[in-house]
Amino acid sequence: MYRTHYSSQITEELDGKKVKVAGWVYEIKDLGGIKFVWIKDREGIVQITAPKKKVAPEVFKLIPKLGMEDVIAVKGTVNFTPKAKLGFEILPDSIEVLSKAQSPLPLDPTGKVKAELDTRLDNRFMDIRKPEVMAIFKIRSSVFRAVRDFFYREGFVEIHTPKIIATATEGGTELFPMKYFEKDAFLAQSPQLYKQMMMASGLDRVYEIAPIFRAEEHNTTRHLNEAWSIDAEMAFIENEDEVMNLLERLVAHTISYIREHSEKELEILGFQLEEPKLPFRRITYTEALEILADLGKEIPWGEDIDTEGERILGSYIKENYDEDLYFLYQYPSEAKPFYIMKYDNKPEISRSFDLEYRGIEITSGGQREHRHDILVEQIREKGLNPESFEFYLKAFRYGMPPHGGFGLGAERLIKQMLDLGNIREVILFPRDRKRLTP
Ligand code: 4AD
Repeated sequence: MYRTHYSSQITEELDGKKVKVAGWVYEIKDLGGIKFVWIKDREGIVQITAPKKKVAPEVFKLIPKLGMEDVIAVKGTVNFTPKAKLGFEILPDSIEVLSKAQSPLPLDPTGKVKAELDTRLDNRFMDIRKPEVMAIFKIRSSVFRAVRDFFYREGFVEIHTPKIIATATEGGTELFPMKYFEKDAFLAQSPQLYKQMMMASGLDRVYEIAPIFRAEEHNTTRHLNEAWSIDAEMAFIENEDEVMNLLERLVAHTISYIREHSEKELEILGFQLEEPKLPFRRITYTEALEILADLGKEIPWGEDIDTEGERILGSYIKENYDEDLYFLYQYPSEAKPFYIMKYDNKPEISRSFDLEYRGIEITSGGQREHRHDILVEQIREKGLNPESFEFYLKAFRYGMPPHGGFGLGAERLIKQMLDLGNIREVILFPRDRKRLTP
């Protein structure tokens, strides 16, 4: 291996010992009789110090030939000294150039020269060399780890459902059509029908982490055409509260995990992530409309709470209760997809909820209608043909327990958790209306 230690692993016990470090040339300084190179790796920066008298002539001669962002590997001796900026330096025995970087660079990876988001995304590999961008993706990795840990601990089984499908599941959102040999098919916009079918299998508690595809017409800071969804479904629930209880524990666990395990990354981002208070506040759709009306925003009962309404509510909750996360629940049945259960005694209201994080929806979920004949009726009410859902309805005819679940948008969660302005910041290669490469 070209590397024995990352920059962060060089501690005082290694003083005087031989190590191998490797990374990208970050800065070069030539003072004549002494030359310096700083190299950057995943964990930080290392200083290479080359005094003419102490290093081999070929090493000394090579340094001025190095270029910014060249990939090099250095073998040398660790020297702890207060003279070095980082407290230590490496006196090189050898420097090997593993890859030259062309010049000029497409963007400045030190971040001193700011680049537009488009330029950054076009050169994502280099954008990620910036510590504050890399920090986001390290946190993203930890979020998925925290989520998996949580589901594992709670006895959920990880499932994987098809992404090439024959029917739509969510009203309102657009599908990407595709040709499937002689048939028309679509890219999956949600694992909804499949995770529900698993409730008839006896697996009882399932989750899936997978991409969802949505042909969103508009370019916004909260929509992607390919996003990652954290979906869960659980059987034998008595009401939607039980699903909300699970979800709030999942989100609180994830935030705590990041606070604990991504301390360094949060520091690089200069962000103080607060521990959320449990339980999350629960506000009915009707109460939310009343709050909004008091604040001067009238929304007729039955209509969706728009982006502005969500934002106003978010600020209201923050100012009055100092809370970032809260549920909106009991939406009008008309505003929700066919699979959501209605209240038997009040069918205009559904057993649905959204989880909001700083004024943006990050999850929707609810209790599902598990009674076959009512489900068929609800499919018809939405103007859909039950025959197209035969593969799904079949699972409701031979023993289907009451169940519910949710879909949590991973990018929305991470964007809101880190209070970032654009969802594109938290996905490596965003797919939006204009962006199909890289
Ligand atoms: O609200 P949605 O459409 O609900 C469903 O897909 C249901 N099947 C979930 C359920 O189990 N009832 O999507 C769920 C979440 C949203 O709250 C959002 O966080 C995310 O998925 N999401 C998107 N994220 C980024 N870009 C998009 N275009 C998204 N569409 C949905």
